Amino acid sequence: MLRERLQADPHRPGYHFLPPANWMSDPNGLIQWRGEYHLFYQYNPEEPIWGPISWGHAVSRDLLHWQDLPVALSPTPDSPDSDGCWSGVIVDAAGIPTMIYSGNRNDRQLPCLAISTDDLLTWHKNPHNPLISASPVDLDLLTFRDHCVWRDGDDWYQLIGGGIRFRGGTALLYRSADLRQWEYLGPICDGRSAETGEIWECPDLFALGDQHVLIVSSIPLRRAIYLIGSFDGRTFTPHTDGDVDAGGHLYAPLSFRDDQGRRIMIGWLWEGRTLNAQIVAGWAGIMSLPRTLRLGSKGRLLAEPIAELEQLRRRHRQYCAIELPSDALINLEAKAGNMIEVDLTIDLGKATQVALAVCRAPDGSEPVSYTHLTLPTNREV
Ligand code: FRU
Repeated sequence: MLRERLQADPHRPGYHFLPPANWMSDPNGLIQWRGEYHLFYQYNPEEPIWGPISWGHAVSRDLLHWQDLPVALSPTPDSPDSDGCWSGVIVDAAGIPTMIYSGNRNDRQLPCLAISTDDLLTWHKNPHNPLISASPVDLDLLTFRDHCVWRDGDDWYQLIGGGIRFRGGTALLYRSADLRQWEYLGPICDGRSAETGEIWECPDLFALGDQHVLIVSSIPLRRAIYLIGSFDGRTFTPHTDGDVDAGGHLYAPLSFRDDQGRRIMIGWLWEGRTLNAQIVAGWAGIMSLPRTLRLGSKGRLLAEPIAELEQLRRRHRQYCAIELPSDALINLEAKAGNMIEVDLTIDLGKATQVALAVCRAPDGSEPVSYTHLTLPTNREV
């Protein structure tokens, strides 16, 4: 019944991915498997608020049109994930899709494993979960959760996100031959609390061009931050850092490499609506568009919506050389319906900020959604 009601909700985005109903947060387990893209996500199937978390699941052939699939993973009573199946990843272990996620029990998270034998539809939890029975004792850790797993030579490596009290966010490195027995190697780098927060959630480390990129989501800064630097297999040395997104709503992004060699990232866009508005609506949270990542000049991470999105373009309008007077609205009269793709080049001149309003009634009466872009003038956009 809820799904039927939601289909009639004019405020439900039709362009970005969102689940059939209720709460969605972090993307999980992004993988291209037998030509199809799989997107899993933190999902509360019962309510539009965060709660006991399962993994929702959707599949796509083009990263544009998604088909909802049954919930992939749910908490098992009296087990290490009895209070939630928190964020994680999926890797291809010699043809066996293998998931590593954070099982939550009594507010404590530990790494758990599950495998699928039917192309990612159903998952069998490892009877020996958790894979690691405790966080390292030599560090005063505030958290120990979220995973990044990759293979190098004969070994698997895993990063687990964390935060060291009074020091800052960190990512802890482990090594394994079989994804089940893990040997602790140590933190790959030391966050500086003042700059990148006390806790790092959802670490994502990957090579990009001739550099390595580490993306983390910071508590208490509530921002996804990238660090670009070098990684020698044990230690990550950041050279530059920045915000993954300037909009203030993107969190817990996750990336994967597709069969064209692209590094594609999707992030959770958290709500700007009030809690009450979300509850009344019956759904909360959407995914960002998939973005291709590349390195820019001056040590910046650049993100572009994937090229496939151009297939969704319909009626096109172009406006050239519009002068923006200060503190006044210009109406572009884009009567294009309730979904619009906007491709803008803005010359800020001496201004520091520009706002874009969408879904605005001609007389300005409708509650408007504004996107404020505050850009330093020397910024590459
Ligand atoms: C990030 C996060 C993760 C955790 C998950 C729980 O938004 O807090 O650290 O695994 O959400 O839903």
